[in-house]
Order: sequence, then C-alpha cells, then structure tokens
Amino acid sequence: MAQILYLKASPRVGRSHSVAVADSFVAAYQELHPGDPVEVLDLFQAELPAFDGLLVNAKYNILHGRPHSPEEAGAWRRVEELIGQFKAADKYVLATPMWNFSIPYRLKQYLDIIVQPTYTFSYAPDTGYRGLVTGKPIMLVCARGGAYPEGTLAAAYDLQTAYLKLILQFIGFTDLRWLLIEPTLEQGPEMAQEKRRQAMARARELAREF
Ligand SMILES: Cc1cc2nc3c(=O)[nH]c(=O)nc-3n(C[C@H](O)[C@H](O)[C@H](O)COP(=O)(O)O)c2cc1C
Repeated sequence: MAQILYLKASPRVGRSHSVAVADSFVAAYQELHPGDPVEVLDLFQAELPAFDGLLVNAKYNILHGRPHSPEEAGAWRRVEELIGQFKAADKYVLATPMWNFSIPYRLKQYLDIIVQPTYTFSYAPDTGYRGLVTGKPIMLVCARGGAYPEGTLAAAYDLQTAYLKLILQFIGFTDLRWLLIEPTLEQGPEMAQEKRRQAMARARELAREF
C-alpha cells in the first residue's frame, strides 16, 4: 500500500487544466490501486503560515545549530506538521499552472515551508548538500498558456519546469515524471481542449506505470 499526496496549485476551481488532467491521473491510479490512500492538499485552501521574520529566524537557528526561542518553537510546529505530511507520502502528484514563467506564489510558499535543513535536506562542509526525500516518484502536471518546446528560444522562459526540477532534485527526488498541457491560451480554446484531451489520455497511460 502506498500513500499518495496530491498537491493542487491552481485556484481555478472547476476550470483548471492542470487539476483536470491530474484528477484523471489520480482516478486512473485509484482504479488500479484501490487500497492506496490519496490525500489532497489544495495549496490555495490550506492554512500555510507566512514564511516571515519569525520562521526565517527559526530556520537560521537550525542552520547555525542554535535552539529555537519559545516563540519560534511554537510557530515551527506548523512547519513540522506540513513537512511531516509531505514526508509521510510514498508517491506525489502535483498539478500546477505556469504563472509569470514560474510557479504560483502559494506553491512557492509551500516549498519555502517544507524545504528545511535537517528535515528535507542536510548540509555538511565536507560532503555538501544532500536531499533527504529519496526513493519516491513524483508526477508533475504542468499547464501553460503558451508553449515552451525544448530546443526553441521559448524554452528559456520556462522557469516553471526548470525550477521544479531543481528544487525537487535538491531535496532528493530523482524520479520526476512530467505531463505538460500547452498551449492553454495562446492558440484559442479549441486547441486548449484538444491538448487537455490528449494529456488526459496520456495521464491514464502514465498512471499504469506509477
Ligand atoms: C497570474 C497568471 C500568470 C500567468 N503567467 C503565464 C506565463 O508567464 N506564461 C504562460 O504561458 N501562461 C501564463 N498564464 C496562463 C496559465 O499558465 C494558463 O492559463 C494555465 O492553463 C493555468 O493553469 P490551470 O489551467 O491549471 O489553472 C498565467 C496565468 C495567470 C493567472
């Protein structure tokens, strides 16, 4: 039995291409693995603490091997809860739009919360950084209004997949699986629907190998 964590990073309830395709992926996966629990974390609904001065100081205190103040320790508990939920999963699904060539701020906020020294990565002067979330696959379903095909000039603007790849590898992921839905705006609604339909079919195939 594998625990699935399904992260949704689009606020477009009922309209999101990335969520529609990721939903198809998860539904197909559940048909094949009815015993595997799926936990959904909607990042636009979840209670995510602001990663402000208090939590930043708490993070630096960990980096410098210093104890937390009582106030930091109180605030850090929610960070630990979210990291605990993240690390408890065996497999991950992420549905995310491209926003301003990168990811939506709520997904960035979530990553700022869960990417923490001693929890999801470690550092030692002699060995450097090491990711601590290892041996788990992640299915990344990314929707974009434009198209950013590899080998074209447009690809340089795709900081959505570039950043996700970098940060997930930083915390230990090696098994990243991608499903892109593009263009969802640039070529009009008919093209968007066709791309969504194709991605849903591909999602069902990919679920068999997940
Ligand atoms: C705030 C915002 C910024 C966006 N920035 C970009 C962008 O930089 N490049 C792009 O191709 N599409 C951009 N889009 C369009 C979305 O990527 C596109 O509509 C996508 O389908 C959204 O994903 P969703 O359907 O899962 O919500 C942006 C949309 C929003 C709301």
